[in-house]
Amino acid sequence: MAHKIPKKDPLQKARQQALTGGGAKRIQAQHSKGKLTARERIELLLDSGSFHEIGAFVTHRCDDFGMKKQKVLGDGVVTGHGTIDGRTVYVFAHDFTVFGGSLSEAFAEKIVKCMELALKNGVPVIGLNDSGGARIQEGVVSLGGYADIFLQNTLASGVIPQISAVMGPCAGGAVYSPAITDFIFMVEETSYMFVTGPNVTKTVTHEKVGFEDLGGTTVHGEESGVAHFVSKNDEACLKHIRKLLSYLPSNNMESAPEVEISEAKESSIDSLIPNDPNKPYDMHKVLDAVVDSDSFFEVHANYAPNLIVGFARINGKSIGIVANQPAQLAGTLDINASLKGARFIRFCDAFNIPVLTFVDVPGFLPGTAQEKGGIIKHGAKLLYAYCEATVPKITVITRKAYGGAYDVMNSKHIRSDLNFAWPTAEIAVMGPQGAVEVIFKDQIKSARNKKKKQDELVKEYREKFANPYIAASRGYVDEVIYPHETRDKLIAGLDMLKNKRDQNPPKKHGNIPL
Ligand code: HXC
Repeated sequence: MAHKIPKKDPLQKARQQALTGGGAKRIQAQHSKGKLTARERIELLLDSGSFHEIGAFVTHRCDDFGMKKQKVLGDGVVTGHGTIDGRTVYVFAHDFTVFGGSLSEAFAEKIVKCMELALKNGVPVIGLNDSGGARIQEGVVSLGGYADIFLQNTLASGVIPQISAVMGPCAGGAVYSPAITDFIFMVEETSYMFVTGPNVTKTVTHEKVGFEDLGGTTVHGEESGVAHFVSKNDEACLKHIRKLLSYLPSNNMESAPEVEISEAKESSIDSLIPNDPNKPYDMHKVLDAVVDSDSFFEVHANYAPNLIVGFARINGKSIGIVANQPAQLAGTLDINASLKGARFIRFCDAFNIPVLTFVDVPGFLPGTAQEKGGIIKHGAKLLYAYCEATVPKITVITRKAYGGAYDVMNSKHIRSDLNFAWPTAEIAVMGPQGAVEVIFKDQIKSARNKKKKQDELVKEYREKFANPYIAASRGYVDEVIYPHETRDKLIAGLDMLKNKRDQNPPKKHGNIPL
């Protein structure tokens, strides 16, 4: 029998009020900007009908600046739990229709409650941010609220995946909390992230700038690297978050879910490497030929494209991929690539996701810009992240592995479990041309035909050193394999490593060169 609700049922009335947020006019304004409301976003993010709200009747406690008369149920943030592909997640979504999604003391408490529950229960937390930052009318209590969230973000880091979507103009604390989380999604044309907005910037620096100049998807998706994913609109963004979660475990004590096994895409992998060692090729093609069909999900696709990172599956199991991209900056490692790789590896290591590395790297990018920018300390982060990682680690050298970059890119020496090299691999201190110019300088200088002499010496050097066999004879490479054997070798290797147990010495924490 259906439950009969009295006409003036207070619960019904309150529920209705909570559902309307800042009211019809403001919801319309939100839609006219191409944005969905907080509740619409949650609806699309979670499995249909799975959302359970917590704290729908919470209101702010501020009576200053006319706020006494404006007590909206829920206070600008919708919080609760639901499922994604049947797995529990916690979610909070800022409601821009209520005081611009700005954060009050009560608003912060709702988020903290949600995060504490997520941490206690070992499930991911997803924040859908659309907020003007600390609620100005509340002063220090809203600042304190943000600090409470930052602390929860930090305590949960490495224990549960924390995912942030920035889905509107976000300022101040509304960008610093996402910045501590594992992954940030942004939406083209509607989302912006800045610590200080255009008005403050103009007052202090006299620069006349707009949202886009300070922190749109071009700035953060391509230049600063703050955003890991950029989506076309809200719907696509929420779909991408669901997809990302499919590769991740719910917490650091679990393994990622497995999916049905699928084959790799057919490809002519044996002819991918050009005959000319200086000719670029697209490393994505190598990945496509090795991982399960359509399973590669790239992270930071438009930031530091000289290093590819992303999730994929091999035989239905989640893996993290780090790969030099010879089609961009010849695949050299620079500051941004080092930062990008280090952070990704540390995420994989924290969440039990094996790391698979593809190497074709002529070295670190030379030049004053890199040296002055601190390539020493930033490159060291990538090295540190690889050294520290205890998850299964496998390397495939497709072509160049030169100099320090050979060591860095998951070499045997830094605890890689399995190292494969293709017959085209060149493992040496530097490329043959550069090497000959240094060690045979006098011979070339005194030769009658300098060019001919140099070519001969390069050929000799290449035959002696620029191959995988010396490294293999030392055991630095476990096996030299044909490219078409790679997928099977990786399947067998990952299976062999599935129970890997390795530990670093006990310590409070290491001191990664930040
Ligand atoms: C209270 C706010 C607010 C805020 C916006 N609103 N931000 N109310 N506190 N922080 C209100 C507006 O008054 C407006 O109310 C409604 O939300 C929508 O805002 P608009 O300005 O009309 O929208 P838009 O033009 O899209 O601009 C959005 C915005 C802008 C870029 C976010 O509002 C803005 O710059 N807000 C202030 C940003 C800021 O400096 N925040 C403090 C950061 S300091 P009405 O009633 O008119 O519709 C901080 C400290 C944390 O967060 C510590 C970090 C380490």
